[in-house]
Amino acid sequence: MKKHFAALLLAVLPVFAFANAALEYPMDHVEVDVADQAAMQDGAKTFANYCMGCHSTKFQRYERVATDLGIPNQLMLDNLVFTGAKIGDLMKIGMQPQDAKVWFGAAPPDLTLVARVRGTDWLYTYLRTFYEDPTRPWGVNNKMFPNVGMPNVLAGLQGRQVVGCKQVQVVEHDGKKQYDTLTGTPITHEDCHQLTVVPKTGALTAEQFDEKIKNLVTFLAYSANPVKLQSERIGTYVLLFLAFFFVFAYLLKREYWKDVH
Ligand code: HEC
Repeated sequence: MKKHFAALLLAVLPVFAFANAALEYPMDHVEVDVADQAAMQDGAKTFANYCMGCHSTKFQRYERVATDLGIPNQLMLDNLVFTGAKIGDLMKIGMQPQDAKVWFGAAPPDLTLVARVRGTDWLYTYLRTFYEDPTRPWGVNNKMFPNVGMPNVLAGLQGRQVVGCKQVQVVEHDGKKQYDTLTGTPITHEDCHQLTVVPKTGALTAEQFDEKIKNLVTFLAYSANPVKLQSERIGTYVLLFLAFFFVFAYLLKREYWKDVH
């Protein structure tokens, strides 16, 4: 009987996985380039100003970040360090996890490695899909992280985002967009689960906001893997060396085998 039950459970499990996948919000893809220092500098600035009140990146030091991002130490201290920390310090914050848990229902996790855990597409989508939801304690919810405990700290940059109705283009199951055969215009239908930003003076345009978030995600991708650039460069040298060495190894082999044949 037990065996049957286990077999039944295994047979049913994929159905749950499928149902779950269907409910998931589609992620937007972002191409991050950790060689782009300007992007990372902008991302680090946004991180220090908008995130470090609650989140640390305590597995890295200010000095290393300044060096890798091409920021002079004094400029880093003046503009990106608000805690009175020294340049050689780890990027910790003053907020105590036990206090944070009371305030937000969950302690804001350290974000040094979050880009590895969640992935850059997840982060990029998460940070752009906060929307107003009066039933939540902070008045906001999130598409990627339903019932999140984090307030929408980026509303000042993005403007208010709400779920509303929008004309969206009809797309078939195979991903093909539909066009009217006579006029060639896209066929649309009204969808009332769409995120829309209420225009606000002082906020960034949609493209500027996406770029800001892309830069922020680039910075987090760098934090999660600070040696990536270095390892790529060393890898190139290793391959070049192997190609160079091959010539000599081959000549030597020919020399050794000359008398054997
Ligand atoms: C006012 C405090 C606060 C600020 C400021 C803040 N967050 Fe959060 N954040 C939280 C809390 C609290 C959570 C935990 C939410 C939960 O588990 O429900 C969280 C969760 C997250 C998560 C999810 C982590 C995970 O893997 O579960 C990410 C990513 C994140 N924040 C990124 C950011 C970024 C980037 C910024 C700056 C733009 C930022 N946060 C600013 C409070 C904050």
